[in-house]
Amino acid sequence: MKFIVTTTRKPDAAQENFAAQISARLDSKFVRREDFSFDALKKIHDAENILLVKKNSLSVMTSEGELFFHPNTAHLRLKNLREGRPDRLIDALKISAGSKVLDCTLGLGSDAIVESFVVGAEGKIVALEKNPLIFEVVGHGLKNFSEDSPHILEAMRRVKIFNVDCEKFLASCADNSFDAVYFDPMFRRPIQKSSGLNAIRPLADDRPLTEKIIAEAVRVAKFRVVLKEHSGSEEFARLGFKILDGGKYSSVSFGAIDKVYRLL
Ligand SMILES: C[S@@+](CC[C@H](N)C(=O)[O-])C[C@H]1O[C@@H](n2cnc3c(N)ncnc32)[C@H](O)[C@@H]1O
Repeated sequence: MKFIVTTTRKPDAAQENFAAQISARLDSKFVRREDFSFDALKKIHDAENILLVKKNSLSVMTSEGELFFHPNTAHLRLKNLREGRPDRLIDALKISAGSKVLDCTLGLGSDAIVESFVVGAEGKIVALEKNPLIFEVVGHGLKNFSEDSPHILEAMRRVKIFNVDCEKFLASCADNSFDAVYFDPMFRRPIQKSSGLNAIRPLADDRPLTEKIIAEAVRVAKFRVVLKEHSGSEEFARLGFKILDGGKYSSVSFGAIDKVYRLL
């Protein structure tokens, strides 16, 4: 996947410095924007994607549109939780204040923010993202986004993220080191109306999960491993997940594998 780094037209010095820094870190080319359109820049530099440094945020210009960070769905879910309504993911993970969660598929970060809000400052959320561009955009947003209420900003800032394949990260984790491990992979059959995910599609790692990854997750989880997939997905049975009740009329389902402890 070839990409270049550029800025908006008429950038300030901070934007240019930041763009140069990121391109060096990601081993890609920093190109001065001048007056070129994105299409022209992609053509000239034979690039599939453009990492765009704006004044206070990062975006990726993909073939499916602009990928940018916004805590929009997390915002509504936190409002519901604060008003005492349930959240299907939180119920599936069975987490509460103080829990430790390994979220293996950061994506746009909405689930990680909601998990972080629920576990609070005494808990821990570690979230993993394989794609470096998604990681940069969402990582920058989690750290710098500032137009929201304090409880959502605090939840965002507490998420610890790593740009790594979850298989590699899981291999480095001790047994039972997180209360719950969560997977929200790219669905085997994409839900087209999920337009929030459209711009992520050309970048996201869409390989299916393997039995080996799930076995590692079961080793690392103290209580539960949770998978989100489209309703009716064969992935639940293939990977050994029990489909959880609820959301009967929803296009997505959650499945769980519980750790079973024998009483001595
Ligand atoms: C459907 S999105 C996750 C959406 C996320 N739950 C949210 O709330 O925005 C799946 C993400 O997981 C990433 N991913 C897929 N396989 C991965 C792996 N093996 N290791 C790390 N990240 C992975 C993809 O690149 C993609 O960004």
